[in-house]
Amino acid sequence: MADKLRVGVIGCGDMSRNHVFGYLRADRYEIVALADLSTEAMKDFDEHFAEYSHYKAEHFTDFREMLTQSTLDVVSIGVWDKGHKPMTLAAAASGVKAILCEKPMADTLGAAADMRLVCDRHNVKLGIGHQRRWNPAYNLAKDMIADGEIGDVRMITAFARDGLPNYSSHQADMFRYLLGDLECLWVMGNVERETDQFARSIPIEDKALGHFGFEGGAQAIIVASLTPRSGWGAWITGSEGMIDLSLNDVKLSNARSGGWQQHFPDGDFQKNGEDTGFAVAYDNVDVQEAAIAQARDFAAWVSGETDYFRGEAQHGYKALEMVHAVYESARTHTQVQLPMKTMVHPLELMIEEGDLPVRYPGKYDIRNRSLRGENTASDEDNV
Ligand SMILES: NC(=O)c1ccc[n+]([C@@H]2O[C@H](COP(=O)([O-])OP(=O)(O)OC[C@H]3O[C@@H](n4cnc5c(N)ncnc54)[C@H](O)[C@@H]3O)[C@@H](O)[C@H]2O)c1
Repeated sequence: MADKLRVGVIGCGDMSRNHVFGYLRADRYEIVALADLSTEAMKDFDEHFAEYSHYKAEHFTDFREMLTQSTLDVVSIGVWDKGHKPMTLAAAASGVKAILCEKPMADTLGAAADMRLVCDRHNVKLGIGHQRRWNPAYNLAKDMIADGEIGDVRMITAFARDGLPNYSSHQADMFRYLLGDLECLWVMGNVERETDQFARSIPIEDKALGHFGFEGGAQAIIVASLTPRSGWGAWITGSEGMIDLSLNDVKLSNARSGGWQQHFPDGDFQKNGEDTGFAVAYDNVDVQEAAIAQARDFAAWVSGETDYFRGEAQHGYKALEMVHAVYESARTHTQVQLPMKTMVHPLELMIEEGDLPVRYPGKYDIRNRSLRGENTASDEDNV
């Protein structure tokens, strides 16, 4: 086995913790540097990963210093969305081999396009953390669909909350993944925004409905905060059957199943919500299981053992494009054809243009709970 990949982490919050967990469990990496505005956040990381022999991280409060002073193969980016572009650009130019950046890929499609361009120019591999591509139940459902268990997929329904880019970029990515990465061709949708709410410094809607059409004729719907229901599963209807997908299992109904049949993925997988004795801040085992598999495949891709990485940046870009297209449809009152031409954040534009007046004033961020103090939200002011 080749030498371990040397990792530097930018932003030591919830999701980076999950990246590092995946790296250490995958056993292909060593964690050598951390960068965070908060020294406490880095100390918490050290404490959390103290038991791992391949974790010995130097601390930096300036990520650019980390990039110039450390010898790194991989950079993980786990700050809020507006930091993704500047940090990816700086990391790509610093000579690393690869970057794993969290989802949503960026705050705007323009920023996401720049990230791809600059990484290509520097020959740097860029992955986006839609880790549920490695969820065992998702893969079981994907295989059943590919094997024709439900015939041609007609409709996939998902239920969401907390802002389309924040929550539903995962679901847009899931639709494409389940369909074998078919392209989304068009999007129609609407939003309601009566409160001045944000998710990680990005304005979000109160409610949304998005309808997506894919090559081959499949369609999908995201129902966001119209009902109390939300979650990471999906109802999938085909010409010859149905699938009810959850994070843990797949229920199948077709002419051969004799009603609903419950299937679990092969293997000894941790289940969502199961106590694993590994106390991560992120109490979501489906995310951890997937993080390990994501880290393994990422190492194989970065090391040149394979040309394929299922979380490659083009998919992160398309997931962001699909949810931004819901906003763009609401803004332009049209069925938006993809690829999207509008490269700014369409919801932000609607707000600026006065198209979405707030009925209940008072700006608040649904993710402020993770702030460590002044100026730790990564927005324009601190990257
Ligand atoms: N893939 C998933 O399922 C999933 C789940 C949660 C979050 N996320 C994504 O992960 C990203 C991070 O979210 P989070 O909830 O983990 O954030 P968080 O608030 O828990 O952590 C962010 C960290 O970044 C640090 N930071 C801010 N500005 C910085 C800078 N300039 N330099 C260095 N560090 C800086 C903060 O101090 C904080 O420690 C977001 O883009 C989010 O959408 C993905």
